[in-house]
Amino acid sequence: MLYEKAVESAEFIRSKIKEIPKIAVILGSGLGGLVDFIEEKVVIPYAEIPNFPQSSVAGHAGNFVVGKIEGKLVAAMQGRFHFYEGFSARELCYPLYVMKILGIENLIVTNAAGGVNKDFKPGDLMIIDNYINFIRVNPLIGDNDDRFGPRFPDMSKPYSPVLREKAVKVAEKLGIDYKQGVYALFNGPCYESAAEIRAFAILGADAVGMSTVPETIAGNYLGMNVFGVSCITNMATGIATVQHSHTEVVRVANEASGKLCAWMKEFIINI
Ligand code: HPA
Repeated sequence: MLYEKAVESAEFIRSKIKEIPKIAVILGSGLGGLVDFIEEKVVIPYAEIPNFPQSSVAGHAGNFVVGKIEGKLVAAMQGRFHFYEGFSARELCYPLYVMKILGIENLIVTNAAGGVNKDFKPGDLMIIDNYINFIRVNPLIGDNDDRFGPRFPDMSKPYSPVLREKAVKVAEKLGIDYKQGVYALFNGPCYESAAEIRAFAILGADAVGMSTVPETIAGNYLGMNVFGVSCITNMATGIATVQHSHTEVVRVANEASGKLCAWMKEFIINI
């Protein structure tokens, strides 16, 4: 049973840490640098946590990190799970069920994404204000356990307006330029075709990526306040003038990561 498994994982994590954070961050491709800001770190490899999935993508470490950013307790997932690795949507959201049992209330999800909006450029940071689930993968398919959340959760505000407003204020205070827009989920692992990107643009996508939407759905279902930010690492297929490469995605994400980390650090302190 999912609930009992998640309790077992949570108890293991609890046994390793002194205090339980209320904020968790999921770090996307090339954005793991935020853990450098975490002090008094406890690093728990996913491999040690009972029932936890294991990540396999280059650029994704697999650690559950707990510590403090300027005194504020935070948990960070260094490395996440993707649908294209062969996980079911429910499996890849498993850590969120564990976080719920731990008592996490605020979830920050970061990712690398392709820019669909032609006003964007590589290196831009985009606050996600909504999502489109083009692949209809949903972590909530299957039996529902009411201890986690309702059978038919509302999704009218998938990204917390309060957290978004806070992030905007922090960005303005720090002089960090940001965009806002709609994140579209594509399953991957291949990049999209140019025709798909043209279709996504018509349907209202500003950025496209291979993660984040399952975690957003599960986070809302679990009653968490969810905040999402994309690092635009490349323009999407057909808009970009060069072919995509994961190395380039990670390079641009690493380059933008200083700006993103400074922003998220201050944001976390202010939650
Ligand atoms: N498409 C999908 N996922 C991505 C992209 C992209 O162009 N860039 C980074 N992640």
